[in-house]
Amino acid sequence: MTPTALQSASPRLRRRERMYREYMTFFEHAEKHRRWNPMHDIPWEQLESQRFHDEVDQRMGAEAKARLATCLETFCGVELFIPDYTKNGLNLSRDIFGQAWFHLAWGYEESKHALVFREYLLRSGLRTLDQYMDYEEEVLKTEWTLPFASNRQMACYGALQEIATFMIYIQQRNAYRQMGNEVLAKLFDFVARDEAAHAAFYRNFMRFEYEEDPEGTAQDLAYVISNFEMPGEKLVPEFERRLQVEGVAISSQDFLLHGIMPTLKSIGLTRRDMVRAMRKQTPPVVTPHAQPDLELAAA
Ligand SMILES: [Fe+2]
Ligand SMILES: [Fe+2]
Repeated sequence: MTPTALQSASPRLRRRERMYREYMTFFEHAEKHRRWNPMHDIPWEQLESQRFHDEVDQRMGAEAKARLATCLETFCGVELFIPDYTKNGLNLSRDIFGQAWFHLAWGYEESKHALVFREYLLRSGLRTLDQYMDYEEEVLKTEWTLPFASNRQMACYGALQEIATFMIYIQQRNAYRQMGNEVLAKLFDFVARDEAAHAAFYRNFMRFEYEEDPEGTAQDLAYVISNFEMPGEKLVPEFERRLQVEGVAISSQDFLLHGIMPTLKSIGLTRRDMVRAMRKQTPPVVTPHAQPDLELAAA
């Protein structure tokens, strides 16, 4: 469809056309540059080597190992809800080809994340199979449901959630690279790269919504920021305790600076625009999450 024909097409047709193009760009890039194999591309054999034992494992200490186990287990727990995420995503988008196909490709990529976290926990001996199976059973007792009602709000949520996840994993990659743990450095590198691509897709999706309806999208984004929480918060057992463990999360200040602000910028909004959009909401939304930070930062 030519750009002129698109302009005069119905909003529904424009959405289908744009999402198809966004998905094709995402898919082509993934196929050419981002595919990786959880079994063959992670240097698992290093876990068995003497060098790893002497230079990484022995030097880590019991506390650091316990922290690592909690981090990996928590990350794995969040990824275990992939059937719920994809099911809900598909229900929202089944008549929008590009978006529905994105959810499928996304689910495949996320499934590899759960797989490598599980593999590391078991291969490294941080968890036994029994311990892991008990944890998995506990996690899957709950079900993830959509945190926001509309497709547009979920585009905003996806953009924020994926960038937060990217930030958490890249922080882990850098830490383990410094420690000389090349298995974890490689693992987090692949996973973080996927998360960055997911965040980029959602930003493009949000940008399209913004072009269609700037005021409505700004208000939805403000609403999502005000009510934002990571998917694990209501689902992963003892999430509050886990949050105290270094590496499980990022600070709200970091999230504001490196997650929320670049997301706003990607559609041409400033924090002042966001504060304005938040004030327009009725009833006003006040949560202990991102809004106070935004107010603070805007002052
Ligand atoms: Fe992931
Ligand atoms: Fe992701």
